[in-house]
Amino acid sequence: MRAAGTAEPNPLVGCVIERGGEVLGIGHHHRFGGLHAEREALANCTDRGLSPRGATAHVTLEPCCHTGKQPPCTEALIAAGIARVVYARPDPGELSGGGAKILREAGIDVVLDESDPVARGLSEPFVQQLDTGRPWVIAKWAQTVDGRIATRTGQSQWISGELSRGRVHRLRARVDAILTGLGTVIADDPMLTARGVRRVRRTATRVVVDHHLDTPLNCRLVTSARETPSLIACDSAMASSELTTAKRAALADRGVEVMGVPGGREGLHHIDLAQLLKQLSARGCSTVMVEAGPGMLGSLFEANLVDEAWVYVAPLLLGDEQAPGAARGRAVPALEGGRPLRLVHTRRLGDDVELWYRRGG
Ligand SMILES: NC(=O)c1ccc[n+]([C@@H]2O[C@H](COP(=O)([O-])OP(=O)(O)OC[C@H]3O[C@@H](n4cnc5c(N)ncnc54)[C@H](OP(=O)(O)O)[C@@H]3O)[C@@H](O)[C@H]2O)c1
Repeated sequence: MRAAGTAEPNPLVGCVIERGGEVLGIGHHHRFGGLHAEREALANCTDRGLSPRGATAHVTLEPCCHTGKQPPCTEALIAAGIARVVYARPDPGELSGGGAKILREAGIDVVLDESDPVARGLSEPFVQQLDTGRPWVIAKWAQTVDGRIATRTGQSQWISGELSRGRVHRLRARVDAILTGLGTVIADDPMLTARGVRRVRRTATRVVVDHHLDTPLNCRLVTSARETPSLIACDSAMASSELTTAKRAALADRGVEVMGVPGGREGLHHIDLAQLLKQLSARGCSTVMVEAGPGMLGSLFEANLVDEAWVYVAPLLLGDEQAPGAARGRAVPALEGGRPLRLVHTRRLGDDVELWYRRGG
C-alpha cells in the first residue's frame, strides 16, 4: 500500500522472504520502472547479510516472467536458490503472467494461496484494469450518522472534520483523476486539488460529467485549469455540435479539455459512464476518485462501477427526510437489489469514523 500513487500502472506488490518462520528480507515495488518486490526483498536479504538460498518467498502477485522495465523476477528467484514460492493471485497479464509455470519447471515448489484477502486485494485494481479496460474507481463521501450528505438546501461544507478532510487530500494526491458531477460543481464550486499534503505523488485531472456543457466558465475548476488539468466529459454529439462551438472555444481558451462520450441510458441524456472510464483508462488513468453528489454516485452504483468506497461518518444527525443520501436514482424494492460492500478497514479520525469498503458479493 506504501506505493499507491507511485507504482501504477504497475500493480502494488509486496514480498517477504522467510525460512522456518524467520524473516530474511522484505520488499515492495516502490515505483513504476523501479525494482519489483521480489528483487527488492532479495536485495534486502543481502543487505542484512542473510542468504535466501533454500528459503520461501511469499509474494502477493505471481512473479513476472518477462522483461519490461525490469528483468523477469522468475530469473532472480531461481538464481537466488529460492526453494518455495507462495503467491496470492495469478498474474493475468499476457506478457507478465505464467511465472509460476517457469518456477515449477526450475524445480521450485510453487503454491497459489488465495486465503488472505489483504494479500489478494493489493493487486485487485491492476487485475481489474487488465480484465475490463477500466480504471479502479474509489467513491468518497462524507455523511451524517443518519446517512445524509448535505442539508435540504444543499449545504455539505463541512460535514466531516479536519482530520477526515486531511485524509481526503492525501487520497487525492495519489489518484490519476477526480470525477465529479455538474450538480456538485454548481453547489460547491470545489477545487478538487490535493492541498496541505507533504508529497503529492501525482496530479489528478479533474473530470466533470456534464452532458450538455453547462459548466459555468467562472467556476474554479475552469479558472484554475491552466494550473491543474480539468476535463469535461459531455455527450459525444455535444462535443462536435455547432451549437456548442462558442462554449467549447471559451473552455479551450481557459485550458479545459472537452471529451465526447457516447450516450448511455436512453431518455436520460446520460453518458455511458463505463465508456467514460474506458476512455480515461486509454489516456493512462489507473485510479479514479469520485467526489460527487447523489446523482453521479447513484449512476455509478447503478452501473456497478464503484470498486471501493471511503465513507466519513460525522457525529451529526439531521433527521430531515428532504436531506439527500449518498446515492439516488436506483429503484430497490428488496434488499437483494442493494450493492453489497465488504468492510476492509475502519479508523477513528477525531470524532469522525472512516469506513473503507471494497465491492462485495
Ligand atoms: N458530502 C459529500 O461528500 C458530498 C460530496 C459531493 C457533493 N455533495 C453534495 O451533493 C449535492 C449535489 O448533488 P447532485 O446529485 O446534484 O450532484 P452530482 O452528483 O455531482 O451531479 C449530478 C449531475 O450529474 C448528472 N449525471 C448523473 N449521471 C450522469 C450520467 N451518466 N451522464 C451524464 N450526467 C449524469 C445528473 O444529471 P441528471 O440530473 O440528468 O440525472 C446531474 O446533473 C450538493 O449539495 C453537494 O454539496 C456532497
